[in-house]
Amino acid sequence: MRALPPSFTPYGWTMSTAEAARIAGVEPWEVLRFDGNTPPSPPPYARPETVAAALEEVQRYPHGGFPTLLDAIAAYAGVGVEQIVLGAGADDLILLCARSFAGPGDTVRVLDEPTYPLFRIASWLAGAEVGDDDAVVTFCCRPHNPTGALGPVPGARPLVVDEAYSEYAGDTAVGLGGVVVIRTFSKAFGLAAARVGYAVADADTAAELRVRQDPLPITTFSAALALAALRAGPPDVHETIEERARLADRLRALGHEPLPSHANFIYVPMDKARERYQQLLQHGLVVRPFEDAVRITVHTPEANERLLLALEQADR
Ligand SMILES: Cc1ncc(COP(=O)(O)O)c(C=O)c1O
Repeated sequence: MRALPPSFTPYGWTMSTAEAARIAGVEPWEVLRFDGNTPPSPPPYARPETVAAALEEVQRYPHGGFPTLLDAIAAYAGVGVEQIVLGAGADDLILLCARSFAGPGDTVRVLDEPTYPLFRIASWLAGAEVGDDDAVVTFCCRPHNPTGALGPVPGARPLVVDEAYSEYAGDTAVGLGGVVVIRTFSKAFGLAAARVGYAVADADTAAELRVRQDPLPITTFSAALALAALRAGPPDVHETIEERARLADRLRALGHEPLPSHANFIYVPMDKARERYQQLLQHGLVVRPFEDAVRITVHTPEANERLLLALEQADR
């Protein structure tokens, strides 16, 4: 195999729910996850009926791909269907962009680090280096993971903008020249396990990306779920946004200084962040720890109150 660079670090999943339950001495269903940046419950269109027709034809390939889904995504994104590239989640499209734009000997630039680790991983897997000079492509995350910040669209080109959380921010780089935007059904649409994402680019770039990808990157079940999601209308994120504001206020009342967020999570700088993570784990509450902060997914008000209570106890 082609060797990976010595600095290569594979994607690190946080602890499994079963392991968190074992540590806390509770049942797995009692564990509350504040680390995945996904909605607290499945959406109403995630029903057996939604995938029933796909099941009846499961023995066949979906010859011709997913034209209905592509049309629906194009209408939702406000672009032509020739501008859409489907993928198995945003991750698949990040990997596709990295290997399409970069290869051995090239440099890829990743802005605003630390950020979503897959930009680096995808670049390294493509054989490229990550650095600042003479980059063949630049990756940026907007809104930014992990801080939730929404900066201006960087001027670098070609630019890949990861908009996994764009629905919460109400802003997009779609339509800007030289920009590939990556979106997902995993966050505001609530379909993380179905693994559906898409890239939006100019028609020529989209065509170049398509020939470099897996011939059939998503399943008929995933396509049916994503189509049902779009037919239900744009995702309603207002409850999450209201709860994000309430949670931030409550964190401030506890003496924390959460960063302003344009996503469905809040970045809370704190001393001894890893110790706090361990303490919260004892309560069956899983947050995402960083060096000097924890990132908290906005959950239901009840779940958030449980987290706040445990944080207050840990802070004493
Ligand atoms: C910035 C960012 N991009 C991509 C992803 C992965 O999205 P998907 O589930 O569509 O692969 C995540 C997941 O947390 C993310 O935070």
